[in-house]
Amino acid sequence: MDAIEAILSRRSIRKYNKKQVSDELIKEFLEVAMSAPSAGNEQPWHFVIIDDPLILGKVPTFHNHAQMLKDSSIAILVCSDMNLDHHNGMWIQDCAAATENMLIAIHAEGLGAVWLGIYPREERIKGIKELLELPDHVNPFSLISIGYPAEQFPKANRYEESRIHYNKW
Ligand SMILES: Cc1cc2nc3c(=O)[nH]c(=O)nc-3n(C[C@H](O)[C@H](O)[C@H](O)COP(=O)(O)O)c2cc1C
Repeated sequence: MDAIEAILSRRSIRKYNKKQVSDELIKEFLEVAMSAPSAGNEQPWHFVIIDDPLILGKVPTFHNHAQMLKDSSIAILVCSDMNLDHHNGMWIQDCAAATENMLIAIHAEGLGAVWLGIYPREERIKGIKELLELPDHVNPFSLISIGYPAEQFPKANRYEESRIHYNKW
């Protein structure tokens, strides 16, 4: 699948079958994440791989749109070391770019994933920091639930001419 096709056909997948995701694929997804652009190339990201069902199952207690984690075998938390944020809050965009890179690669490899928003929701930040014992200088950004798809959706066509402006609004 080429890059354009992967981007255009990616959809959020929240139901998975039992097939395990290999360590090789997880490594590839992390490599893809860390190849994202970042402000001044600061690369502030860290990643927490969560494959313990007991930990995955606790996330929905503080994140009300994360029920799929009860059936997911693996998720990756994208977070930022705030000591590496040298561009005044740009860590948010850096982590978003890393997250989206992973979503596209996961889909291109025939797996499915969904971006679960953590930052800037206070209760989700607190919940994930406590659950994963993140140090104070680390901010959680997003959680990506990953698995082999047990559902599929057609390509979404969101192209909208009225959102495009030339030279002036
Ligand atoms: C910042 C952000 C936060 C999101 N948070 C959640 C979430 O908490 N739970 C969830 O099921 N989906 C979440 N999503 C996925 C969106 O619901 C999904 O991307 C959107 O409905 C478009 O559908 P698609 O991904 O299939 O194209 C989130 C997406 C983004 C970009």
